[in-house]
Amino acid sequence: MGRSTWKYQVFFLFSLILHSQLPFPSSLSSSLSSMQPCSALLLFSKSFSLVQGISNSQTSYPKTASWREDKHCCTWDGVECDKNTSHVVGLDLSSSWLMGHIHSNSTLFFLPNLRRLNLADNWFNLSLIPSEFGNFKSLTHLNLSLSVFAGQIPFEISQLSSLVSLDLSENELLIEAPVWKRVIGNLTQLRELILDFTNMSSIRPNSLMNLSSSLTTLRKNANADWAKNAQSKRNLSLRYCDLRGKLENNILCLPSIQTFDLSHNSFSGLLPSSLFNLPNLSTLGLGNNQLVGPLPSHVSSLNLRVLFLSSNFLNGTLPTWLFSLPSLEVLYLGDNQFVGEIGEFKYNSLMYLNLGYNKLHGSILRSVSRLVNLTELYLSSNNLSIMLGSEMFSKLKNLETLDLSNNSVSINNNAAHALPNLQYLYLAYSNISEFPIFLRLTTNLQYLDLSNNQIYGRVPRWLGDVGNNSLFYVDLRNNLLQGPFPILNSSNLQLIFFSNNNLTGEIPSLICDAIYLQVLDLSHNNLSGMIPKCLVNSTTLSVLDLRMNSIHGNIPAIFAKGNNFRHINLNGNQLEGPLPQSLVNCIDLEVLDLGNNKINGAFPYWLGGLQKLQVLVIRSNRFQGRIGNPKTKFLFPNLQIIDISNNQFNGPLPVTYFEYLKAMMNVDESGVASKYMGENYYQDSLNIIVKGQYIAMERVLTILTSIDFSNNSFRGEMSKIIGRLKSLKGLNFSHNNLIGHIPPSIGNLTNLEWLDLSFNKLSGEIPSQLANLTSLEVLKLSHNQLTGHIPLGNQFNTFNNDSYTENLGLCGFPLSRTCDNHEAKQPPPPTLQQDENLGHENGFCWQAISIGYACGAIFGMFMGYLMFKIGKPKCLVRMVKLEKHIMPRRLKKNAHKRGGRR
Ligand SMILES: *[C@@H]1O[C@H](CO)[C@@H](O)[C@H](O)[C@H]1NC(C)=O
Ligand SMILES: *[C@@H]1O[C@H](CO)[C@@H](O)[C@H](O)[C@H]1NC(C)=O
Ligand SMILES: *[C@@H]1O[C@H](CO)[C@@H](O)[C@H](O)[C@H]1NC(C)=O
Ligand SMILES: *[C@@H]1O[C@H](CO)[C@@H](O)[C@H](O)[C@H]1NC(C)=O
Ligand SMILES: *[C@@H]1O[C@H](CO)[C@@H](O)[C@H](O)[C@H]1NC(C)=O
Ligand SMILES: *[C@@H]1O[C@H](CO)[C@@H](O)[C@H](O)[C@H]1NC(C)=O
Ligand SMILES: *[C@@H]1O[C@H](CO)[C@@H](O)[C@H](O)[C@H]1NC(C)=O
Ligand SMILES: *[C@@H]1O[C@H](CO)[C@@H](O)[C@H](O)[C@H]1NC(C)=O
Repeated sequence: MGRSTWKYQVFFLFSLILHSQLPFPSSLSSSLSSMQPCSALLLFSKSFSLVQGISNSQTSYPKTASWREDKHCCTWDGVECDKNTSHVVGLDLSSSWLMGHIHSNSTLFFLPNLRRLNLADNWFNLSLIPSEFGNFKSLTHLNLSLSVFAGQIPFEISQLSSLVSLDLSENELLIEAPVWKRVIGNLTQLRELILDFTNMSSIRPNSLMNLSSSLTTLRKNANADWAKNAQSKRNLSLRYCDLRGKLENNILCLPSIQTFDLSHNSFSGLLPSSLFNLPNLSTLGLGNNQLVGPLPSHVSSLNLRVLFLSSNFLNGTLPTWLFSLPSLEVLYLGDNQFVGEIGEFKYNSLMYLNLGYNKLHGSILRSVSRLVNLTELYLSSNNLSIMLGSEMFSKLKNLETLDLSNNSVSINNNAAHALPNLQYLYLAYSNISEFPIFLRLTTNLQYLDLSNNQIYGRVPRWLGDVGNNSLFYVDLRNNLLQGPFPILNSSNLQLIFFSNNNLTGEIPSLICDAIYLQVLDLSHNNLSGMIPKCLVNSTTLSVLDLRMNSIHGNIPAIFAKGNNFRHINLNGNQLEGPLPQSLVNCIDLEVLDLGNNKINGAFPYWLGGLQKLQVLVIRSNRFQGRIGNPKTKFLFPNLQIIDISNNQFNGPLPVTYFEYLKAMMNVDESGVASKYMGENYYQDSLNIIVKGQYIAMERVLTILTSIDFSNNSFRGEMSKIIGRLKSLKGLNFSHNNLIGHIPPSIGNLTNLEWLDLSFNKLSGEIPSQLANLTSLEVLKLSHNQLTGHIPLGNQFNTFNNDSYTENLGLCGFPLSRTCDNHEAKQPPPPTLQQDENLGHENGFCWQAISIGYACGAIFGMFMGYLMFKIGKPKCLVRMVKLEKHIMPRRLKKNAHKRGGRR
């Protein structure tokens, strides 16, 4: 989704139009040139609608709503006039709910004396920045950030030669090299340049050198107060600008710069050590680049308050100066390759410390125990040895977030020091075997992740009261919990993960007291009893995952209208009876997996109306009868995976349905590398037959498309219509009573990776078009009545006898039987490409299954969508964490606008 798209969605969500756009009074347009500033301002304000919700600031309000014609504009909110001349010199309409275009004929440009203009945090509908901005000759401060401007930054900006501060960040802008050259050449007074999120991909990093002159020259300006303010600032922020290339060590000679932030670009090469010798530097950000090498061993930037170097490839040990910076408040070095131990901080100013995802070892007791102001501590995924509950915590009264996951944590439950302000606790994969008792004293806990440990036995009763009513997330997945379902008393619970334990007994309907519950994952336990009615009747629940338990009885037939279900998974229980038709109320449903139960009845064709349904699995139940022809059009428009295998369906293949499966015809495979079904907190996982193997997929890439109708009693011919489902990766019609020829149109399914038509009564030749299926890895045609030549070439050179056994009269490679008394043709030696395919099939792919998946490397082809349940999906956790914790504050605030980054 483009950044602009979600913005519009947000707009529709929040839109509350206060007063709508007034027509431009045409009588006035003639007198434009002589327009008085107050009229110009009024007309400018009236060219916008005021829309609540488009401004991000908590304190946003419509400043122009109070503008009244009967008062002089110098008294208006946001307007600043010169005391002597009464000229309008300042206009601050930031966060003022303005929505609309700014055209080049805007009356804004009739304010020639403006020195300071701030229109940040409004919504200008992807307006270009009009070149008329270049007319504000006196402008010293221009802030158009976060305002939905788009397109190229006009070169006229470079004529604003008095500019001291320019902030165009967080729009959809682009700056080209010639404009950039002019900006840095002509804006010699600039102290502050903020272009975050501007596309600067055509800019070469060494041009930053030329900035030196501008950002360092001291300027004497005694006039206005605001200039004084500005004088102290020397900031350069070019985050998320798509800048690339090597950073030379002498990239900058900006002795007085205070903020230097080039994070979130693609800079490579060695970390420039010269940056650490800028005496006034307070914030240094080069995080999320591809820099290598160690931290410098000596520095002179002793005023550093913020050091953000996370997510690079930095290595070596943490130098001693790092622990003796007197003002350091934020230290983010996570996701690098640092080794060694964490030193002891000499000063206690630190508030945010992130050293996670490195290779650090040793104890942290002395390092952090005196950091009284520490608010967030991330140390996950190192080799640290940490004793929880020890006196280490006795002084950390301000700690709100503690992440020790993936280290070796032990718990001292005898000396439970409280962390009274703790809100987020991450202790996954930390080898603990009991619940930490200090949790009893954390009355503000909101987020508790104890997943993937060896916590054994019953859940203690006190856990239900942890965090009073603030707790919204509880994750106890993958432990050794036993006994009855734990009762949690927080009424704020939204996400509960208890899967992969050994909980027994019924699911108590008390669970429904959590009136905000969105995700309930109880899969892979030993729960019995029936599904509590109140769960099905929920209007908040989005994910209900009860798979692999021993739940019996009917599925309650009371799915409420307006419910919120997105994923329902009841696979592997003993549910029976018919499917409740009230499922049609689940209009947001994307995944419905009811496989491996005892559900009966006819094919639930009425689910076809669920426009968002992507996965329908009803395999291994007692469904029966003909599927017949659909009674309405446009069925299952988004269905990508359908598995109705192992039932008692009969009659002809439901060919007409195939014509409606739009999502199987044209899945857009561009940019899918990181798209999984599901949401931020719950990635849809599925058990699915892939290439003939039943596999638990931790995550499902949205490009996976398959049809499995195997083990039923379908009869009649396959239809050529199947050849239209071009996105199909897997097709399984095996173990039915199909007759006739294999339609040559299957040769058009060029994405097909597995094709199983075995155990039918198919006759005739294998169509030569099948040799076009260059992605095909598994072919099963055995136990049919096929005759004639086995096609040659491409993947057909890789299948062996088993693909073809028990047919009437197949001949040719790889069978020993030759065709027409000629010798079986040997396939030509494999070409390079075929070699690769072979590699995929025999080594790469299946090996990948056994080792889980490599973080960061998502392979296109067929590997991509197989995410297996072996080990922790570390990069997922890491991505979520990094986004959550490293996102700069400003972004964090706007996260809902920017859309989820999965
Ligand atoms: C200003 O320009 C826009 C777009 O070019 C146009 O739609 C609008 O009518 C113009 N307004 C006036 C008053 O000329
Ligand atoms: C630089 O600014 C001056 C105004 O001070 C302007 O006349 C000139 O055209 C600008 N040069 C460029 C290259 O934009
Ligand atoms: C650090 O990384 C650099 C560049 O990748 C490499 O040359 C160097 O050997 C590494 N140093 C250590 C101590 O691993
Ligand atoms: C902790 O923070 C407070 C408030 O910001 C500050 O006054 C105090 O100096 C800080 N303590 C240390 C040791 O930096
Ligand atoms: C689960 O609990 C039951 C009864 O409490 C016990 O018999 C069974 O062995 C347990 N299973 C596992 C895998 O621990
Ligand atoms: C479903 O929930 C609503 C309140 O949300 C309640 O009024 C209704 O009785 C419930 N229906 C059933 C069948 O439990
Ligand atoms: C395969 O697709 C092409 C173009 O979409 C079509 O012209 C052709 O008839 C199809 N082949 C078969 C055998 O259906
Ligand atoms: C598919 O196979 C047929 C027959 O072998 C051949 O004529 C045709 O050109 C192939 N189509 C493509 C797209 O390779």
